[in-house]
Amino acid sequence: MALSTGSNKIKTAIFISGTGSNLKSLIKFSKLKNSPIMIKMIVSNNSKAKGLQYSKIYKIKKKIFDFKNALFEKKIINELKKDNIDLICLAGFMEILSKNFINNFKGKILNIHPSLLPKYKGLNTHEKAIKNRDRYSGCTVHFVNSKLDSGKIINQKKVRIKKIDTPKSLAKRILIQEHKLYPAAIMKILSL
Ligand code: GRF
Repeated sequence: MALSTGSNKIKTAIFISGTGSNLKSLIKFSKLKNSPIMIKMIVSNNSKAKGLQYSKIYKIKKKIFDFKNALFEKKIINELKKDNIDLICLAGFMEILSKNFINNFKGKILNIHPSLLPKYKGLNTHEKAIKNRDRYSGCTVHFVNSKLDSGKIINQKKVRIKKIDTPKSLAKRILIQEHKLYPAAIMKILSL
């Protein structure tokens, strides 16, 4: 893929909207000695996102942008380019990026989704999997293209659905796997 590694670590931005547990796991991953990434920026569309606390804790720059506004989009693209961001990881980011944004970072945007794609794109994935009496659900990391949750799949992890599962209990078990899957996906694309 078109990521530039060189001798330096890949400058990465993480986009969040909420709790930020995937952000936290990616920060921890970035701090490992052999990690190929360094996290330069946390971006959010939501100034109240709980995950923004990690900006302070780990001293990572944060930027809050209104993604619905084309002018702001231009600003964020400029910010990312100014910092030579070469990898964008969407982690619980609840906005749909515009075609223009995606074209500016072609092949460099990843997303994590809490289902076994192509099953259950969009929201409420755990409800859907339980309602359909699926035996398994899971999580997927994929490249982002202009269609929702439809880009090329990088890796997936299956999680068994128990009879007693509620969407909440299933989400919790899947989230634990997400925290391992995202770093593994990054390692995988960089070794291609
Ligand atoms: C995760 O389940 C992710 O797959 C989904 O939203 C959730 C975000 O969790 N897109 P967190 O903010 O990383 O804790």
